[in-house]
Amino acid sequence: MKFYLDSANLAAIKKYNQMGVVDGVTTNPSLVSKEAGEFEEIIVSICKEVNGPVSAEVVSTDHDGMVKEAKHLSKLAPNVVVKIPMIPEGLKATKTVSGLGIPVNMTLIFSANQGLLAAKAGASYLSPFIGRLDDIGQRGMQVIEDLVVIRQNYKLKAEILVASVRHPQHVLEAAKLGAGIATMPPDVLEKMMQHPLTDIGLKKFLDDWGRAKKEKPSLTV
Ligand code: E4P
Repeated sequence: MKFYLDSANLAAIKKYNQMGVVDGVTTNPSLVSKEAGEFEEIIVSICKEVNGPVSAEVVSTDHDGMVKEAKHLSKLAPNVVVKIPMIPEGLKATKTVSGLGIPVNMTLIFSANQGLLAAKAGASYLSPFIGRLDDIGQRGMQVIEDLVVIRQNYKLKAEILVASVRHPQHVLEAAKLGAGIATMPPDVLEKMMQHPLTDIGLKKFLDDWGRAKKEKPSLTV
């Protein structure tokens, strides 16, 4: 399973990229608005840092505006993926943009049918927002379950990019279902690394080693 960081914060992206666990990045207008600097500069810096797809979202809501923005964004770096919202004009724009050879991540998907339409229009990535569905009392993971089956049934090329991930359990469930990618905020990735028994175990190893060194000064490390 590929892990993307759902963030526009370059420091966080660098931190986790150095650990070799970042396969790509997703941004959105809300995430970019939290960071200092110009949108394009932020995207270019992230694209230089990460050796993988970086999603940058359009803010137009009409076909022509989205296509214009997509062309502009795609010129910023070779690894830019253009994020287009799942609205009728967005489907039309996805058809045009993907036809130009620019990869599209269709965002704001909340049902398997929307995902199926996005794939048909030519999107390379389908982003179902599972956390936001959970927030309104629906089962977000159901959309992932359905899309995994649909993707296999029809040998769809589009990858399922599990989005709006709120906690490590979301990642685990999506991985068990066979979703290709999960994008997560830095705090979720951080939580995935942590286990109290790892910390307790390491402390014991180091304490035992410290005692042994006192008894056997020949131990060099
Ligand atoms: C995905 O591409 C989106 O940026 C993101 O996952 C949205 O998540 P949120 O519901 O936590 O804002």
